[in-house]
Amino acid sequence: MTEKKFCITTPIYYVNDVPHIGHAYTTIAADVVARFKRLEGYQVFFLTGTDEHGQKVQEAAQKLNVTPQQHVDKLHQRFKELWVKFDISNSDFIRTTEERHKTLVCSILQTLFDKDEIYRDSYEGWYCTPCERFWTEKDLQDGNCPECRRKVEKIKEHNYFFRMGKYQDWLLEKIKSDPHFILPVSRRNEVLGFLENPLEDLCISRPKSRLPWGIPLPFDEDYVTYVWFDALINYISIHGSLDDIRASGYWPADHNMVGKDILTTHAVYWSTMLKAIGLEPPKNIFAHGWWTVNGQKMSKSLHNVVEPNQLADQFGVDVIRYFLLREVPFGSDGDFSHKALIGRLNSDLANNLGNLLNRTVNMIKKYFDGTLPEPATTGEEDNALQNTAREVIDEVRKLYDELAFNKILQKIWELVDTTNQYIDKTGPWNLAKTDEGKERLKTVMYNAAESLRVLGVLLFPFMPKSCASLMLQLGVDKTIEEQGMKSLENWGNLTSGTKTQKAKQLFPRIEDKQAVKILAELETKNDDKKDESGQITIEDFMKVDLRTGKILEAEKVKKSKKLIQLKVDIGTETRQILAGIAESYEPESLIGRTVIIVANLKPAKLMGIESQGMVLAANNDGTILLAGFDDEPGQGIQVR
Ligand code: MSP
Repeated sequence: MTEKKFCITTPIYYVNDVPHIGHAYTTIAADVVARFKRLEGYQVFFLTGTDEHGQKVQEAAQKLNVTPQQHVDKLHQRFKELWVKFDISNSDFIRTTEERHKTLVCSILQTLFDKDEIYRDSYEGWYCTPCERFWTEKDLQDGNCPECRRKVEKIKEHNYFFRMGKYQDWLLEKIKSDPHFILPVSRRNEVLGFLENPLEDLCISRPKSRLPWGIPLPFDEDYVTYVWFDALINYISIHGSLDDIRASGYWPADHNMVGKDILTTHAVYWSTMLKAIGLEPPKNIFAHGWWTVNGQKMSKSLHNVVEPNQLADQFGVDVIRYFLLREVPFGSDGDFSHKALIGRLNSDLANNLGNLLNRTVNMIKKYFDGTLPEPATTGEEDNALQNTAREVIDEVRKLYDELAFNKILQKIWELVDTTNQYIDKTGPWNLAKTDEGKERLKTVMYNAAESLRVLGVLLFPFMPKSCASLMLQLGVDKTIEEQGMKSLENWGNLTSGTKTQKAKQLFPRIEDKQAVKILAELETKNDDKKDESGQITIEDFMKVDLRTGKILEAEKVKKSKKLIQLKVDIGTETRQILAGIAESYEPESLIGRTVIIVANLKPAKLMGIESQGMVLAANNDGTILLAGFDDEPGQGIQVR
């Protein structure tokens, strides 16, 4: 029997960026699909990684005085660690600076060059440095980059080009004839619109003199590979040579998941590159929407980046995984709000699902001493519950084809609600009062528990840890992966007679008071972040008490090369202040001089002597120059 194979990928993230919920979003979504497919019995290859070449990395490394390689070796860890924290089950993690990746990029470049799919030509265009992209005159918006709206510069140089334009008709035909190829439909139409204009060839090189941090072209060492041409190949470079890729069974990928901003590079560049190499395009490229915060794009300069690490610490990993996929349809944009997150946690997770598990396990404890009873008779209510479960399972399976995560979760909650209603309608607390009722109660408790098991399997891809805990509480010792979707084909997989465990709150509720506190704290944290920009308010500045002072005495501190001990008259009192100026000033020359001091600095001891303030001075490459005035202002005068 041949194995069923399935491949899903996320974009590879720019290693320089601080991971935010936008990155977590794609990765969690891909993880959910990967986990679901494994439950369906597929052998899954799930790939994510980091994009490590290009100008921005080079510049950042330069600023830090490290090599680009040292820089990316450190930075890529932030993504790796985040994915571990978020229970991401990726099969591999590709970095574009790895040998295995560079080898395939070079081999593809050489093959395409040999086949004349890549040629050299001179090129004049508008270049956007932050986006590392050339634009034509007509692409520009108000003379600026159409993507980031920043300034572009006109550049003329020799470069290498991939004959992308010749694949335009093939690509149009492919998109039109395969409705599943690019989704959602609105995005597919955008790509079709883009292809109405002539498709130009793609510049795939950058002169090394301008940008050394990239993969050198194998046929011209004066150039490096354009980052996008390099990065897109990540989806296949993990498998080795082109023959290895074909033999792996993981290409074409079932889903290349991307954000809407990078759909063109995937639908157009990537598909035509694959065509030229002789590989199939992915079966599906799905472009999801963007998260904004209070209606604005997340960005460092706006101080509104929502950090997944912080969120997970505050609310729990599974709550975030659930919220991001439940709140908005996968193809649409969504606005992130902590309030909405707390709302979902309290209602869907704590009240509906958590409470269902809690009361079921508690009642099995109370009425059957924690042993799962054997179901007896089956009545109308029981059949209705089983029918709902069957219908939900079938529908969920179908909805995965459309990656309609929010609909999948909505559907699953129909079973949560139906099971809660089943308990309310059958009323275990009343049944427990009579012998006849107790017989019926066995069936009711068994069915409620089995329904929870079904929910545990269905929700496992979204909330793996919580569902594992749910199974343990129900006394199931098989892992959810072992149970698989197959275990949902017939009702009644739970084994009567097994011991359930002590009920544990899966999702503790956040009470109103606590919610107000959390939201206020988050606001303060955001204000603190604003301080990271280096700016302070006038109120902050006013806190510093700067005053003029006259030096009355000055002597060198014994055993110190730098320190001079001063007595300074600041109008109201005389202060003892230590200043690190001995290498630039003789003590005697200082006497009678007016300086500016920080008068409200907390006293500190230096070499055992207390310093009660600080003298302002400039350090010009080791030469110290005291700040002063053109004229003598007198002592104790405030300086602003
Ligand atoms: N390195 C390229 C991708 C190369 S793939 C061969 C890149 N990296 S990125 O880090 O800028 O973006 C990676 C993904 O994160 C993209 O799919 C992008 O859409 C997604 N997101 C970035 N910000 C986002 C939001 N605010 N919301 C949702 N997703 C967003 O592009």
